[in-house]
Amino acid sequence: MPKRALITGITGQDGSYLGEYLLSLGYEVWGLVRGQANPRKSRISRLAADLNFINGDLMDQASLVSAVDKVQPHEVYNLGAISFVPMSWEQPELVTEVNGMGVLRMLEAIRIVSGLSAPHRDHGSQIRFYQASSSEMFGKAIETPQSETTGFHPRSPYGVAKVYGHFITRNYRESFGMYAVSGMLFNHESPRRGAEFVTRKISLAVARIKLGLQDKLSLGNLDAVRDWGFAGDYVRAMHAMLQQEDPGDWVIGTGVMHTVRDAVQIAFDHVGLDWRDHVVIDPQLVRPAEVEILCADIGRASAALNWKPTVAFAELMQMMVESDVRQVTREHEYGDLLTAASW
Ligand code: NAP
Ligand code: GDD
Repeated sequence: MPKRALITGITGQDGSYLGEYLLSLGYEVWGLVRGQANPRKSRISRLAADLNFINGDLMDQASLVSAVDKVQPHEVYNLGAISFVPMSWEQPELVTEVNGMGVLRMLEAIRIVSGLSAPHRDHGSQIRFYQASSSEMFGKAIETPQSETTGFHPRSPYGVAKVYGHFITRNYRESFGMYAVSGMLFNHESPRRGAEFVTRKISLAVARIKLGLQDKLSLGNLDAVRDWGFAGDYVRAMHAMLQQEDPGDWVIGTGVMHTVRDAVQIAFDHVGLDWRDHVVIDPQLVRPAEVEILCADIGRASAALNWKPTVAFAELMQMMVESDVRQVTREHEYGDLLTAASW
């Protein structure tokens, strides 16, 4: 009998790669979809026709209990979140509800369906749980690189909510004996990345500038340093974490640092343009409390999970630019039928 997985956030970047990966491993894959006519559901259905869908929302406890009860998953991957950090200053309560309380609701759904009525270390559950924690939790990092033992100093309501999700996951592991793991993933990108994130904002703009459809690209802090990897690599790590004998917390990244300026330079260079002719700084895009530097120490993950990234940063940016040149060309030729958000 195939293993069953339930993925929240199936319509997002990571959900799409994880869904495809688990299908390739022979899993029966169920994606939780919110809203009565979510347009991103058809996008992911086109990519992976074998996916199954179930309605639900991380804001709605009963819908999660019902989804877990119906699917009876062996593994639950909680990727659903409002993932764009600046939005968390505009709607902090909503982001806290979805990204923080949403984790508690999913853990409760597993607890209720597994019949764990009282906290007890030895009870356990047959359902393994993955929580999408984030390097944003390190925030104003107290050391570089950051590892599984580095303390947290989140800098945004998003980061604070992720810290809650991280610790409630650990708490259900310790209180109920649940197999609950937390993946502290550093930034990961792909041609499927949302257009609001800096790498995709750059690759889309470079494509449009190259094709003569735009001239300027407005950005905020070019000095921010991130450890960027390829999303397709990172979903393999999520799966590997749930196959270990014991649950734990894991840091996943590349261990290589680049600035936003590096990303800009690589992307413009790739199409033969000078970024200085096109990039303008918009102070409105500078964050009220910035995360200046993130870099992963992946010693533990590479040794114990036997995981390593396969796509270097320059290759990643070039892949995204090439994909967007193709997409923007099609969009331009065929009008509005294809939007910038289509894969
Ligand atoms: P993404 O592309 O923004 O996808 C987010 C997903 O969450 C979407 O499928 C969205 O569904 C869903 N969602 C939003 N609100 C929801 C709700 N109330 N109930 C259920 N689902 C909801 O994000 P991503 O890049 O794939 O990231 C996946 C997860 O990893 C997120 O939790 C993110 O915070 C975390 N993370 C990402 C990175 C990274 O660099 N990508 C790094 C560390 C951690 P709709 O279609 O309904 O909007
Ligand atoms: N989005 C954006 N837009 N970022 C900009 C811009 C701009 O115009 N200009 C400079 N930046 C800088 C931001 O200030 C930040 O330092 C860096 O680029 C990366 O921003 P994002 O791509 O928006 O990602 P993020 O680091 O805030 O968050 C992503 O990674 C986290 C893991 O570290 C998201 O995927 C989060 O969900 C994830 O948890």
